[in-house]
Amino acid sequence: MKVLFLDQSGQLGGAELSLTDVAKHFQDQSLVCLFEEGPFAEKLAVEGISWQVIQHKAPSISKESGIVQGLLSIRQLLPLVLAVAKTAQAYQLIYANTQKALVVGAMASVLARKPLVYHLRDILSAEHFSPINRKVAVTLANTCATLVIANSQATRQAFIDAGGKAETIEVVYNGFDPQRYQLEISLRQKLQAEFGIPDGFWVGHFSRFSPWKGQDVLIEALQYLDPGVRVLLVGKALFGEDEYVQHLQAQIQDYGLQDRVHFLGFRSDIPALMASCDLVAHTSTAPEPFGRVIVEAMLAGCPVIAADAGGATELVEHGTTGWLCPPNDPQQLAQIIAHCQAEGDQRLQIAKNAYANAVQNFSVDQTNQAIAMLLQTYIA
Ligand code: UDP
Ligand code: GLC
Repeated sequence: MKVLFLDQSGQLGGAELSLTDVAKHFQDQSLVCLFEEGPFAEKLAVEGISWQVIQHKAPSISKESGIVQGLLSIRQLLPLVLAVAKTAQAYQLIYANTQKALVVGAMASVLARKPLVYHLRDILSAEHFSPINRKVAVTLANTCATLVIANSQATRQAFIDAGGKAETIEVVYNGFDPQRYQLEISLRQKLQAEFGIPDGFWVGHFSRFSPWKGQDVLIEALQYLDPGVRVLLVGKALFGEDEYVQHLQAQIQDYGLQDRVHFLGFRSDIPALMASCDLVAHTSTAPEPFGRVIVEAMLAGCPVIAADAGGATELVEHGTTGWLCPPNDPQQLAQIIAHCQAEGDQRLQIAKNAYANAVQNFSVDQTNQAIAMLLQTYIA
C-alpha cells in the first residue's frame, strides 16, 4: 500500500518512534513527510525509510492554544496543506500521526481526494488539551477520517467521550521487536564511571521532561527512601519545556538530593540502560495514552511501576506483571519502591511474567499486521 505518512515533529518522541516501526513495514512505496528537520528525520534515514521535510518552521499551535491562535495559524498552514495535497497525488492515502498533522492532512485529503487515516496517540481530555483543540481534532476526525487508530482503549474512550465517532475508531497497541531488548550487557560500571553514580538500588525514569510526565513525583518520593536508592533521569525536554527542568533542579537542591539524582540526557541505548536498572518508574500525572517505556522495561527484563491511569492500566497487571501506583502520590510510590527493593525474589518473578506478557501481546509484527489489515478493510 502506498502511504503518505505525516508527522509534525522533528523530535524523537514516542509517537515518532512508533511511526518509524509502522513506516518501516510500508517502506517500499511510502513516504514520511515531516514539518521540521531534526533527529526524527535522521532516524528515518538510518532506517532506510523515505522522508521529506515539507516546511521547516512548525505551525505555532500548542496543545493549550485558544481559538484566535488557532485561526491565525490556519493562514500559516496553507502553503503546507497545498504542498501535502500535491505530494499526496502519488499515494493511496494520507496517514496523520499527530494532531497538527491531522489538521494539515484533513485539509489536504479533501483537496487531493485521498482517504485520511488518523493515528490517535493522545488522550483528548481536559488534562491534555484545550477545549478548542479537542473540538478541532474530533470534528476533523469525524468529518475527514475514514479510519482512526487509537493506541489504547483509554485513548479510544477519551475520543468517544469528546464526541468522536465510535464506528471508525479501532485500537492497535504499539509493537516492539523483542530482540532489540534482549541484551545481556549491563552498563552499570560504565555509568558509575561516566556519571559518578554509586552502586545501590537504581530506579530509572525514561521520558522527555514535561510536567505531566511527573519526574518531580519520583524526586519527591526519593526523600522517603533509604540513601541507597538512586534515581536516573533519562531524557530531555523535547518540546521546549526547559522551565520544568529548572523546576526539577531547584526541587533536588531543596531536598538535598543532588547526590542521588542523576541526569543522563537523551539516549539512544534505552534497552541497555533499562537492563542496568533495578526498577523502572513511570510517573505520569495525567493519563498516559499508551506509555512505550512500560513495555520496553518489560522487554528489557526490568520490573516496572506505572502510574495507574490511561493506557498504562492496559499494559500492567498489578502484582503480576508490574506494579500500579496512583498518579501523583509520592508517598505511595515510595512505599512500592521500598517494597520492590526489599522483595528481590518477587521482583525477579514479576519481571519474568512481564517479559512473557510483552513478547506475547506487544510484538511489532502483530501491530504491523493489524494496521495493514485495517488499511485493507477501510481503504482498499
Ligand atoms: N526515549 C529515548 N531516549 C531517551 C528517553 C526516552 O529514546 O532518552 C524513548 C523511550 O524509550 C520511549 C519513547 O522515548 O520509546 C517515549 O515514549 P512514551 O510512549 O513512553 O512517551 P511519549 O514521550 O511518547 O509521551
Ligand atoms: C504518544 C503518547 C504515548 C504513546 C506514544 C506512542 O506520544 O504520549 O503514551 O506511547 O504516543 O503511541
